[in-house]
Amino acid sequence: MSPAMMLFALLGFLSLILSGPALGGSGFEQLDGTPPSKIAVIGAGIGGTATAHFLRQHFGPEVRIDVFEKREVGGRLATVTVNNQAYETGGSIIHSLNLHMQDFMKQLGLKYRKSVAGKMAVFNGKEFILEETDWYLLDLFRLWWRYGISFIRMQMWVEEIMEKFMRIYKYQAHGYAFSTVEELLNSLGGSGFLNMTRRSLSESLLELGVSQRFIDEVVAPIMWVNYGQNVSMPAFVGAVSLAGAQTNLWAVEGGNKLVCSGLLKLAKANLIHSQVTTISLQSSGESHQYKLSYTTQAEIASDVYDIVIIATPLQQNVNSGISFLGFEPQLAEITGSYHTMVASIVHGYLNCTYFGFSDPKLFPFTSVLTTDTADLFFNSASSICPVNISTGFRRKQPHEARVYKVFSPKPLEKEELKTLFKSYYSVQVTEWMAYPRYGSSQEMPPMILHDSLYYLNGIEWAASAMEMSSMAAKNIALLAYQRWSRQLEMIDQKDLMHKIKTELVIVIMLMLTAVCCYLFWLIAILAQLNPLFGPTLTNDTIWYLWHHWS
Ligand SMILES: Cc1cc2nc3c(=O)[nH]c(=O)nc-3n(C[C@H](O)[C@H](O)[C@H](O)COP(=O)(O)OP(=O)(O)OC[C@H]3O[C@@H](n4cnc5c(N)ncnc54)[C@H](O)[C@@H]3O)c2cc1C
Ligand SMILES: *[C@@H]1O[C@H](CO)[C@@H](O)[C@H](O)[C@H]1NC(C)=O
Ligand SMILES: *[C@@H]1O[C@H](CO)[C@@H](O)[C@H](O)[C@H]1NC(C)=O
Ligand SMILES: *[C@@H]1O[C@H](CO)[C@@H](O)[C@H](O)[C@H]1NC(C)=O
Ligand SMILES: *[C@@H]1O[C@H](CO)[C@@H](O)[C@H](O)[C@H]1NC(C)=O
Repeated sequence: MSPAMMLFALLGFLSLILSGPALGGSGFEQLDGTPPSKIAVIGAGIGGTATAHFLRQHFGPEVRIDVFEKREVGGRLATVTVNNQAYETGGSIIHSLNLHMQDFMKQLGLKYRKSVAGKMAVFNGKEFILEETDWYLLDLFRLWWRYGISFIRMQMWVEEIMEKFMRIYKYQAHGYAFSTVEELLNSLGGSGFLNMTRRSLSESLLELGVSQRFIDEVVAPIMWVNYGQNVSMPAFVGAVSLAGAQTNLWAVEGGNKLVCSGLLKLAKANLIHSQVTTISLQSSGESHQYKLSYTTQAEIASDVYDIVIIATPLQQNVNSGISFLGFEPQLAEITGSYHTMVASIVHGYLNCTYFGFSDPKLFPFTSVLTTDTADLFFNSASSICPVNISTGFRRKQPHEARVYKVFSPKPLEKEELKTLFKSYYSVQVTEWMAYPRYGSSQEMPPMILHDSLYYLNGIEWAASAMEMSSMAAKNIALLAYQRWSRQLEMIDQKDLMHKIKTELVIVIMLMLTAVCCYLFWLIAILAQLNPLFGPTLTNDTIWYLWHHWS
């Protein structure tokens, strides 16, 4: 073999190492098992659709992927229409470091929605205790003045957690999967992350040296608006919620749910509009299959699958309508409950008098958050922008009719609406089983329910957000793939940070070796003045060299 060919062979080998363990559709040929022929995903929210997309990536183009949805594609990402414009009622904001969501946007060719500036304030039931101004520096100064160094301490804590969280993208790019939420968290942040899912946010912040006043006046309102719960929530989801209150946020032009429908198309999945009612186990010897029964227009149909992924909460009060048959022993019940959050989209005039502003023209805020102590009938009220923002879009003034989103624990009574609004044209209410009621279960739900039956939404008990579901989707697709192809060393590996770094060092060493070999060979050739490969020397130069060196 000529040296040049050797070099190419070496480079080819290197790129193989660089691309990580064999991922993608061709992985089964060398293995004893056959690829699965049919996979079912139950639920077409961001979790289910992202799972379908990642399953397609890993299992290849041949396998049939059916996605079941009983209501609308998008699930908790949904819009309502007011005056021919659509507004988000469910999941609305995405952090700039949410890399899976960003990647979906790129692959689907979706656009980022322009953000429209607005001011936030915290209301304690009587007055505003914290008001944002037009001046970022002034806001910082006021935070420092009022709360001392608490603000910086908290920010640094959140940054540190995010930095650790972002390791997941590296692990997943290398094909590593985790079989439980605990293993996943542990690999990212060690026992510290696990402890954060058990300790309360307020306790953790106090320990950091954040003042009680800062927790009551800044942290608590953010928890109320994002999760409808108080600062007794676990520290981990608290940190996710605080990250969601930073400035670098975005949303999808046209509505976040476009990601879900886009992913279904990209995955070439079959969408089946029906409710799955039972999953029954069909075993023959060692191998298991799952029969799904589902209802379509007063008819009951069923089909058998090799792998099933449940991408909807199974807690009793969410009422998924799925029952399990033929599992011996029976599957353990998934404990805990979901928290109700009512989103009312109101088109009308805000009652600024209620907030102590007699002249609505002087009311400067677009978002009103509330404190724990306010004991109000609503958690937050914000003037919101439609999902399509054209150039030249302008936010309406408070004395004009605007569209508001009000979050409350219960549907608003007429009296309550009349307190908050001077008058209104329309109210559209969505009652969400929104996110876990943190603290209602002590344990994390399992990811593997049975041999090839997986459950995605356990991740919400670490934290519930679009990116968490997307990240769990990638994990479940990898987990299903690695288990199916029996590459168990890719599951629950310890000390991954170290492993990945070592892999990188080996790759760099091999590359350096390759370069050295090439240089050595080149020098050897040059020394013989016999340029087969390398610079061709002119006769003059050769004569000169010969003359000079001898
Ligand atoms: C009001 C609100 C505000 C939020 N704000 C944010 C935010 O700003 N940023 C953020 O990142 N996250 C936010 N979230 C959280 C985020 O929306 C969710 O974490 C995420 O959408 C969950 O997606 P999922 O696919 O896991 O579940 P879901 O979206 O609930 O999808 C489950 C799907 O399964 C379907 N289904 C259920 N049972 C069956 C069955 N038997 N057969 C067939 N189909 C079935 C359901 O109809 C549903 O469509 C918010 C949530 C709410 C409710
Ligand atoms: C987490 O909690 C356990 C047991 O309470 C403790 O031993 C461990 O040190 C804690 N880890 C961290 C990083 O705080
Ligand atoms: C937070 O709410 C829970 C119940 O949801 C309650 O038991 C707890 O006392 C509250 N904590 C604070 C600090 O208000
Ligand atoms: C909103 O934006 C989406 C995505 O850019 C586009 O497909 C849709 O047609 C737009 N709708 C309106 C009413 O402009
Ligand atoms: C507005 O708020 C004030 C003060 O709370 C209240 O007296 C009044 O009834 C509310 N409603 C309207 C329509 O002004």
